[in-house]
Amino acid sequence: MYVSIWCHNLNLSSRSLAIALVVCVTLVYFSYSFNACLFESISRSLQQSNLRNLLTLQRRNVSSEPVKDAGTAPEATSSTAIMPNSTGSAASIGSGIASVDGAPKYQMLRQQGLRPSRHLPDTLIIGVKKSGTRALLEFIRLHPDVRAAGSEVHFFDRHYQRGLRWYRHHMPYTIEGQITMEKTPSYFVTKEVPQRVYHMNPATKLLIVVRDPVTRAISDYTQAASKKADMKRFEQLAFVNGSYSVVDTNWGPVKIGVYARYLEHWILYFPLSQLLFISGERLIMDPAYEIGRVQDFLGLKRVVTEKHFYFNATKGFPCLFKSEARSTPHCLGKTKGRNHPHIDANAIERLREFYRPFNNKFYQLTGINFAWP
Ligand code: A3P
Repeated sequence: MYVSIWCHNLNLSSRSLAIALVVCVTLVYFSYSFNACLFESISRSLQQSNLRNLLTLQRRNVSSEPVKDAGTAPEATSSTAIMPNSTGSAASIGSGIASVDGAPKYQMLRQQGLRPSRHLPDTLIIGVKKSGTRALLEFIRLHPDVRAAGSEVHFFDRHYQRGLRWYRHHMPYTIEGQITMEKTPSYFVTKEVPQRVYHMNPATKLLIVVRDPVTRAISDYTQAASKKADMKRFEQLAFVNGSYSVVDTNWGPVKIGVYARYLEHWILYFPLSQLLFISGERLIMDPAYEIGRVQDFLGLKRVVTEKHFYFNATKGFPCLFKSEARSTPHCLGKTKGRNHPHIDANAIERLREFYRPFNNKFYQLTGINFAWP
C-alpha cells in the first residue's frame, strides 16, 4: 500500500514537473521574441534619427549658398544644392525614385540599411503668386517630414520637355515617410499645367494660397516696379484709356486675380478633396492655424505649432523659430513684405467692383468665403 501511494505521488509530481517545464519554455520563448522585437525597433529608430540629423546638419552647412527665389533668407536654401548629382537609372523613373550615388558620405547610411533617394513631388504649392507662397513653404518645411526644393523649378510650365528625370533631379533627397514638395506659383495660371501634373501623378496634393486680388495686384505691381525704375503708375496700367471705367484684364497683375477662371481648369483633373486653399491674410494673422490645416491635409503629425512663430514688429510680419526651442529666429527676406505705393482710393474701389463677381464664383467653387472686401 505504501508503495502504491509513493508511486501515485511520483506520478503527480512528474506531471507537475512537465507542466512547469512547458510553462518555462513558453515564457523563455516569448521573452526572447519580445526582446528581439524591441531591440530591432530601437535600432531602427536610432538609424532614422541619425539620418535625419545628418540631413539637417548638411542642410545647415550650406546655409550660405544662394537660391533663385530672392525672397528667401539665406538659411532657407535649396536642399538640392547640398546633394551630389544622382545617376538615377531609367528603370527608376516609373516609380519616381532615384537612388543615391556612391558618394562616401552616404556609405554610413547605406551600412545602416537606409537609402535616401530623390522622388517626384507628392505635393505642390501651385500659387498664387504674391499671396504668401514663400511664407507657406518656409513654414511647412519646418516639419521634419517635409523636404522641399528651395527654388522654383518651373518644370510644368517652362521645362516640361526636359522630362520627369530632369525634374526629379531637382528634388531633395528623402527617406521613407518624408514628403517631397515643390513650389512654383506660375503653375496655377498656366493652362497646360493641370493635365501635366495629372499625368505625373493623379494623386498629387495641391496647395493654393489666395489673397484679396486687389492687394495681390498691388503687390505684383510693387515687385515689378522694384525691378524697373521708370515703371508707370499702377492706376495707368490697371485701366484702359486712363479713366477708371474699363479695367485692363490683359495686364498680368489684374488677370491673375481672376482665380475662378484658373481654378476651373484644375478641377477638370483633380477633385476638390486634393486641393487645399490657404488664406493669405490668415497666413499673416494666424500662421499656426493655417499650418495646422496644412499638416492635417498632408496627413502629418502637428509638429509646427504656435511655438514656432513670433510677430516681428520691425518687419510687420510673422517670423519663425526653426525649432520649438526658439533658438534660431528667421524672417523672410526683404522682397517679402514690401511697402506698397499709395493707390488712388477710386481706382481701388473700381477694382473691387470688377473682382466681386469673380470672387463670388471662386467662393462657390471652393466652398469657402474668403470675405474679401
Ligand atoms: P508683399 O511683399 O506685397 O507684402 P509670395 O511669396 O507668394 O511672393 O508672396 C509675397 C507676400 O507674402 C508678401 O507680399 C507678403 O504680404 C506675404 N507674406 C505672408 N506671410 C509673410 C511673412 N511671414 N513675411 C513676409 N511676407 C509674408
